[in-house]
Amino acid sequence: MHAWQFERYGNYKQVLHWVERPTPTPGHDQALVRTAAVSLNFPDLLIIEGKYQHKAPLPAVPGVEGVGVVEAVGPASRFRVGDRVVGFAHSGGTLADYFLVDNNAAWTVPAHVTDVQAAALSVVYGTSYFGLEHRAQLKAGETLLVLGAAGGVGTAAIQLGRLMGANVIACAGDAAKLEVCRQQGAQHLIDYRRENLVERVREITAGKGADVVYDPVGGEIFDQVKRCVAWGSRYVVIGFAGGSIPQLELNRILLKNMSFLGLAWGQYLDRGSELPGKTQQLFYDLIARGQIDPVIYKVLPFSETPEGLRLIESREVYGKVVITR
Ligand SMILES: NC(=O)c1ccc[n+]([C@@H]2O[C@H](COP(=O)([O-])OP(=O)(O)OC[C@H]3O[C@@H](n4cnc5c(N)ncnc54)[C@H](OP(=O)(O)O)[C@@H]3O)[C@@H](O)[C@H]2O)c1
Repeated sequence: MHAWQFERYGNYKQVLHWVERPTPTPGHDQALVRTAAVSLNFPDLLIIEGKYQHKAPLPAVPGVEGVGVVEAVGPASRFRVGDRVVGFAHSGGTLADYFLVDNNAAWTVPAHVTDVQAAALSVVYGTSYFGLEHRAQLKAGETLLVLGAAGGVGTAAIQLGRLMGANVIACAGDAAKLEVCRQQGAQHLIDYRRENLVERVREITAGKGADVVYDPVGGEIFDQVKRCVAWGSRYVVIGFAGGSIPQLELNRILLKNMSFLGLAWGQYLDRGSELPGKTQQLFYDLIARGQIDPVIYKVLPFSETPEGLRLIESREVYGKVVITR
């Protein structure tokens, strides 16, 4: 088969090549999927650079989620040849003609969900749903501040936050991205490059501050956000797209009676939780009812995978980039 492969860690421009490599054989509880579509994620850049929490043995294939049709199964796979499935591969592997899925990290896809929607669904909606529902326990009427709001997980957090009845404040870095956030349902918009984030959040919340913060960015913006949270607030740590891990004075937690909550969605799969499967079904139902829909920035052919990664790296992208065969 053909695949995008890297033989050493580094920037995708230098190390990623389209090569021929052996088609994988499904293990005991695995299925082999013929790839139809793959969505790119911010962690793909980190995986290729060797900076992600999971390091695939080299030579490796990037891509953490994909959809396609099952062509072969191991003896204990819960899938059958011909099933259309979407799967998550924590260490990569989906940017290839074929990829393997495990029983605990793949789900069949109903006919009303397109390949592009399915490819763009599990990671970003899974992360945002688990962050808002299971970790922050966001309630109707609360104010939710979403950072990196025009990104993959950010747009999903806006849509899900609105569905949960929250008052959503979206924070992004330019007017075009904020317009995307408005279209996803955000009631308040903050351009953090041009506006004073602390003052704007206080103004929107009548001085109270945000009840829940959804933070996939970390970095420098944290120094402002920590000053506009409500008493009893919950801060969900999703990632560090900003490039650095913020530090916190513990007295702020005490004075604000607040909670910091970590969320690692992939761990629910690795630990065999049944929740992701139930949530995937919920997402299919919400798509059928028109209540969520992944924001697709661009659909590119497999040959343009490096261009897709460039769009993410350069921060041009909003929502998701999907690669199709
Ligand atoms: N915890 C989990 O289970 C989990 C799951 C999936 C993803 N994540 C993490 O969540 C983060 C976001 O993922 P994503 O797929 O939503 O990424 P994305 O689509 O690229 O969005 C990231 C957003 O972060 C903002 N940003 C601020 N500083 C940035 C920088 N230096 N470089 C790039 N973006 C920057 C950008 O918004 P502006 O341009 O508007 O500032 C961008 O829209 C990543 O750190 C990822 O690893 C965590």
